[in-house]
Amino acid sequence: TRISASLIDPDGGKLVQLFVPESEKDSKSKQALGLPKIRLSKIDLQWVHVLSEGWASPLKGFMRESEFLQTLHFNSLRLENGSVVNMSLPIVLAIDDVQKNRVGSFTSVALVDEDDDLVAVLNEGEEVINPVQYNDGLDRFRLSPAQLRDEFEKRNADAVFAFQLRNPVHNGHALLMTDTRRRLLEMGYKNPVLLLHPLGGYTKADDVPLSWRMKQHEKVLEDGVLDPETTVVSIFPSPMHYAGPTEVQWHAKARINAGANFYIVGRDPAGMSHPLEKRDLYDADHGKKVLSMAPGLERLNILPFKVAAYDKTQSKMAFFDPSRAQDFLFISGTKMRTLAKNRENPPDGFMCPGGWKVLVDYYDSLAPS
Ligand code: ADX
Repeated sequence: TRISASLIDPDGGKLVQLFVPESEKDSKSKQALGLPKIRLSKIDLQWVHVLSEGWASPLKGFMRESEFLQTLHFNSLRLENGSVVNMSLPIVLAIDDVQKNRVGSFTSVALVDEDDDLVAVLNEGEEVINPVQYNDGLDRFRLSPAQLRDEFEKRNADAVFAFQLRNPVHNGHALLMTDTRRRLLEMGYKNPVLLLHPLGGYTKADDVPLSWRMKQHEKVLEDGVLDPETTVVSIFPSPMHYAGPTEVQWHAKARINAGANFYIVGRDPAGMSHPLEKRDLYDADHGKKVLSMAPGLERLNILPFKVAAYDKTQSKMAFFDPSRAQDFLFISGTKMRTLAKNRENPPDGFMCPGGWKVLVDYYDSLAPS
């Protein structure tokens, strides 16, 4: 794949892609028959997908001990040439003692999915024989970093700004994206392109499932909240860790590899509620503060945003103004879900009607008939 001179370089300079060439698939598959097998869980398979397309470049497979230790203790990796790339989440293949004994002294292992079908071979680095597909009707939205780079080039983007999300798009999210576009045009960019990049891997049970979120995002574009002409909608294959300020670094780093040079971050990224207490698990401002200081992310332009809330005086989502706090309404994820479940409407201007209807339909589909 061509790498455009105008797009930001991938971490490590070269985009890693772990696919075995078509002509070698048969022989590699045969060799794999003689190897010990490790069965991948659904989440392991999502990581194989992530690694195979180079979202974690320059990683060439699951982390080995040195990479794992650097990640845990430095949130980054030092490359042979001395440069540092960000790497905040451990991407490891955990096995138990039974599997470990089965591997024994073998230096290669076959990785199979839950149906026992061969996916990849693990040796010095990983070699993916059968690219990961989900056959859920959404594979066409799962563009790899190389495909996204091609798409941005085709569109002649002179800036790419990424928006990571795992929730339905409300007008507060949209405000961050439209405001970014305005700022980039003001800075002199002629053709900034938005990467609207919903996370597609594991999410916790009370998050809205990917298929419904994709329907919701489609409505947001149809209803004109975001401009389809300057937006690329694609699925980010990573699973969620809900690791807040640690995870948001991974979310940003992976988007560099896909060609994004601007990254939007707002309130409490990759956060969740405290499991026992009635509060957020992380300080809602730490994510954006950490991202602006993160080792190895110096090349990425971080765009930190204040919290957006519903401004009752204007009947729309706006940046929160603490000097007139009483004018604002905070509609949390929980609040939003409760409204949709009870078929109640949020205040006008919170979300486009088409998008809201998708959420109501989703909760309807869960209700016992
Ligand atoms: S995340 O797990 O993907 O970070 P979510 O989909 O809720 O969760 O958020 C997507 C992005 O929008 C993150 O950058 C988050 O900080 C930002 N965000 C979400 N809600 C708000 C809000 N009300 N005001 C400002 N930023 C927000």
